[in-house]
Amino acid sequence: ASTLGAAAAQTGRYFGAAISTAHLGEAAYVNTWTAEFNGVTPENEMKWDTVEPNRNQFNFAPADRIVSQAKSKGMKIRGHTLVWYQQLAPWVGGLDANNLRSAMLNHISQVAGHWKGQVIAWDVVNEAFEENGTRRQATFQQKLGDGYIEDAFRAAPAADPGAKLCYNDYNTDGINSKSTGIYNMVRDFKSRGVPIDCVGFQSHLSSSSNLGSYQANLQRFADLGVDVQITELDVGGSGSGQANVYRQVTQACMAVSRCTGITVWGVTDKYSWRSGDTPLLFDGNYGKKQAYSAVLDTLNGG
Ligand code: G3I
Repeated sequence: ASTLGAAAAQTGRYFGAAISTAHLGEAAYVNTWTAEFNGVTPENEMKWDTVEPNRNQFNFAPADRIVSQAKSKGMKIRGHTLVWYQQLAPWVGGLDANNLRSAMLNHISQVAGHWKGQVIAWDVVNEAFEENGTRRQATFQQKLGDGYIEDAFRAAPAADPGAKLCYNDYNTDGINSKSTGIYNMVRDFKSRGVPIDCVGFQSHLSSSSNLGSYQANLQRFADLGVDVQITELDVGGSGSGQANVYRQVTQACMAVSRCTGITVWGVTDKYSWRSGDTPLLFDGNYGKKQAYSAVLDTLNGG
């Protein structure tokens, strides 16, 4: 196949990109997205500060612009993210524990409910662990304690019973303290029947990233009975070093049957969140990079 999405689809997978409404007026941006990718994650538009800027006042319009274009192309849509300590609306920080819990549950129900049946997966909780594998001490954890993650996952199915429910984090690109902390949580959830369907590995990498246990890490999660997805892939650097890391990540996903798809965190280097770096598959002029060919070849089985 000659595009990333079509190549991934040959094995039942998707290949998505993070998309921002800020660039939807740029033809080359939209054309590259819709020609090459069969999946999307709104880069910021489903986050709390955008969708619920004031308590119980919802603003779904920005994300809906992305969702409607994606649906018209038959793309797979990832929802990002319901519960995260960053890009929270300011009002959330002032709540006491009881109000924070009810606000969190209401947010999940309203936001996941708005896109019911339209997203394949939600990042229900994002970035809740520290590098050492303990819980990150931020808003939800500090006020609600360990139980908030479980409460969030238990609340989500009522709002959108068809969406896969994911936990998503970064620096989990191998067997390490952080990924093991998350692994233990997922194992505990599965053993107690807490609904969790998938784990997202953001994979913000560099050309010198050591991927020695990358595939084994994906596999150990899959063996717990969850899908795994590469959710925010980008690789700092350029040339063959960058291409090799992209190739290894793609190979690892292809080798794990429960790895259902890969999403890169942007279309073009021009608009990457990693300003000053060139971590994506298309250069600033939408030219295909060496990394692009490495990914396409690998998705095609080459
Ligand atoms: O919305 C305002 C806009 O009104 C204002 O004009 C503009 C001026 O700077 O700022 C805009 O907000 C920015 C927003 O992106 C939208 O462009 C924020 O300042 C900026 O902080 C925000 O950055 C996003 C970042 O998450 C915030 O944490 C990045 O675009 C986005 O790529 C990044 O994505 C995260 C994932 O959600 C979670 N994993 C890590 C990943 C990379 O940090």
